[in-house]
Amino acid sequence: MKRKAVSLVLALTMVASVVAGCGSKQEEATTEPAATEDAAAEKTDAADTADAAAEAVDGDLADKKVGVCIYQFSDNFMTLFRTELQSYLESKGFKAENIKIVDGANDQATQSGQIDNFITEGVDVMIVNPVNSSSAATITDKVVAANIPLVYINREPDATEEQRWADENMDVTYVGCDARQSGTFQGEIIADLGLDAIDLNKNGKVDYIMVEGDPENVDAQYRTEFSVKALEDAGLEVNCLTDQVGNWQQDQAQQIVANALGQYGNDVEVVFCNNDAMAMGALQAIQSAGRTVGKDIYLVGVDALSEALEAVIAGNLTGTVFNDHFSQSHSAADAAINYLTGAGNEHYIGCDYVKVTQDNAQEVLDMVK
Ligand code: BGC
Repeated sequence: MKRKAVSLVLALTMVASVVAGCGSKQEEATTEPAATEDAAAEKTDAADTADAAAEAVDGDLADKKVGVCIYQFSDNFMTLFRTELQSYLESKGFKAENIKIVDGANDQATQSGQIDNFITEGVDVMIVNPVNSSSAATITDKVVAANIPLVYINREPDATEEQRWADENMDVTYVGCDARQSGTFQGEIIADLGLDAIDLNKNGKVDYIMVEGDPENVDAQYRTEFSVKALEDAGLEVNCLTDQVGNWQQDQAQQIVANALGQYGNDVEVVFCNNDAMAMGALQAIQSAGRTVGKDIYLVGVDALSEALEAVIAGNLTGTVFNDHFSQSHSAADAAINYLTGAGNEHYIGCDYVKVTQDNAQEVLDMVK
């Protein structure tokens, strides 16, 4: 599955540029197409190296214990991620009883207790999806002090923290995609429709509402900024009607979008959701308000959950962006194995998003199912 996912990414990799929600700042583009392709190629090389290392030590891995902390089991995307992580770790030779995956229930105190327990139990490596990425320094300190290598996933610690891993030569890395790219792809999906199609109220602007994920994940900030930046880069004038936090949750997004449609009515031309769970909530609100995606409103998400892909195919979602949980979970497991074998890792391991529209939604659905 990993090879399939990686080659799809390489085949569909698009230009990434950059940014701004209601009143937020702009930044320079940081991802050039060439760099994106290089990163993808490096990732494939890294995966090959990890495969070779893992094959060499398969027998030993059976005795190794891995502790995995997930910020919240009820998160749709993290459910796909952890399920794939579990099966990939087993395919690499870890025994099922030696893989312990725990639910932080969106509470940092609970997760910190789970990390303490893993230390006491003497796990050989930890994979952590922090509840609060701002707690990373504390987590790193105690895990490193216990001599346990650490792989962060999904919620990226800040640059100062990542620099410390390099400066102090710690066995700590982060595996994830650059959310700026996913935001850019969302904006490009809308911009590609052309102003004539989008500008239903004919005021010359793209009038949008933004539904943001939990600000503890930098993905929320970047997707918000870069989706709007992509519209502006395409020469479109934008007008943010409202920008609210839906915490990655379908029900919260449904409420936010229902209220916004009630307040702004036909002026709402585009609904940006930082993830698909929230886009599905937005779709419920849109349909209840008697609006039709693709006809009198446009809607985009991120993740490529199966239900979102089905909605794209049916024309109920303008587009989404594949958040490659195969590549991310496999790279996280490979990084853990690299620490166990002594091969070590870079302190940042990236991956690419894939833009999804009606043109390729079926292809992506066939791959993720
Ligand atoms: C995903 C969201 C998910 C979040 C959890 C993001 O990368 O797109 O769906 O809720 O990670 O931190």
